[in-house]
Amino acid sequence: MPAFRTLDDADLAGKRVLVRVDLNVPMEDGKVSDATRIERVLPTIREISEKGGKVVLLAHFGRPKGRDDKNSLRQVVPALAHALGQPVTFVDDCIGEDVARAVAAAKNGEVLLLENTRFHVGDEKNDPEFVRALAANGDLYVNDAFSAAHRAHASTEGLAHVLPAYAGRTMQAELEALSAGLDSPARPVLAIVGGAKVSTKLELLGNLVKKVDILAIGGGMANTFLAARGVNVGKSLCEHDLVAIAREIEEKAKAAGCEILLPVDALAAREFKAHPGYRVVPVGEVADDEMILDAGPLSVAEVVLRLDKVKTVVWNGPFGAFELPPFDTATVTVAKAVAQRAKTGRLVAVAGGGDTVAAMNHAGVADDLTYVSTAGGAFLEWMEGKPLPGVEALRKG
Ligand code: 3PG
Ligand code: MG
Repeated sequence: MPAFRTLDDADLAGKRVLVRVDLNVPMEDGKVSDATRIERVLPTIREISEKGGKVVLLAHFGRPKGRDDKNSLRQVVPALAHALGQPVTFVDDCIGEDVARAVAAAKNGEVLLLENTRFHVGDEKNDPEFVRALAANGDLYVNDAFSAAHRAHASTEGLAHVLPAYAGRTMQAELEALSAGLDSPARPVLAIVGGAKVSTKLELLGNLVKKVDILAIGGGMANTFLAARGVNVGKSLCEHDLVAIAREIEEKAKAAGCEILLPVDALAAREFKAHPGYRVVPVGEVADDEMILDAGPLSVAEVVLRLDKVKTVVWNGPFGAFELPPFDTATVTVAKAVAQRAKTGRLVAVAGGGDTVAAMNHAGVADDLTYVSTAGGAFLEWMEGKPLPGVEALRKG
């Protein structure tokens, strides 16, 4: 593993330290509903603060098109300050005079959170002028956002080229753990990919089939694959315009000798709510007015059967609408089966993704897996062996 500069190499006292964190946390009714990402960045914030640096946090929230209250990071401040046990000063922009004044006014060891970097188009464009504007308020740059490292944005990549750059403690731990689990995995490898973000993952799946031995597909995206095989999925979440791509992925898998495992049965309901009337049906028998909300027991059994043959499991995305019982059943059952084998050393199990972390916590198995990453897209790209721009930029030159 090539070396990265870490906080061990940084002289932090009295410095303005721009720290890129991932605070893209799930919200419910205006409150943070899963604080895992916040908790993960606390060690880095505390260490810089204790060593006398001014901690200036940079983060994105959602995918805003310009400024909007819905995506303001202001709403994350209470949860962050609470977790940190220290006040957090919020500045409602991430560049400019207000930021400069607030940073100048802060004492060493204090923590500031700047407004959503994506309120400026320059962030996602990695615009050099925007990079300079960000850099103007810092002496050092620390990247602790592995989960945003697949983005070559100003705050995740650009800054590393204009300021002395270091990996934060969470980034460092993530790189170490994932490289141990995935750089040369023990085979066979089973990848489990589920979740609702169908279109964003279909492309990734195409590469994954070349790397893993078995690919179990669950969640909304499985419906697209089922539809591609000519199965009626009723009014299930399904991207019908992507069936051709799903077929291509099946072809690639066949050519690469990767087995694709799709659900063979499902929990189907007419309404999307907790505990509706539902049926357990073979996937071919979903009615036009029904939707698939979870994988059924036979599908779960198929996956569990594979667990006894594989040595590595990489998992991103739940099998069903796990936030609505009983549609958490497939995810929880498989999670427990994976965890039990990981705990007894029979396989290496690495899981990643915001929903996946929530699902593993819900199943009560997060501590039993080999490693649980809060990264979603970055985790998948890492899993495929793609270089991550945010990580590459931190390598010791
Ligand atoms: C995530 O939530 O996966 C990361 O914060 C990256 O967000 P993005 O997919 O909007 O870039
Ligand atoms: Mg995500």
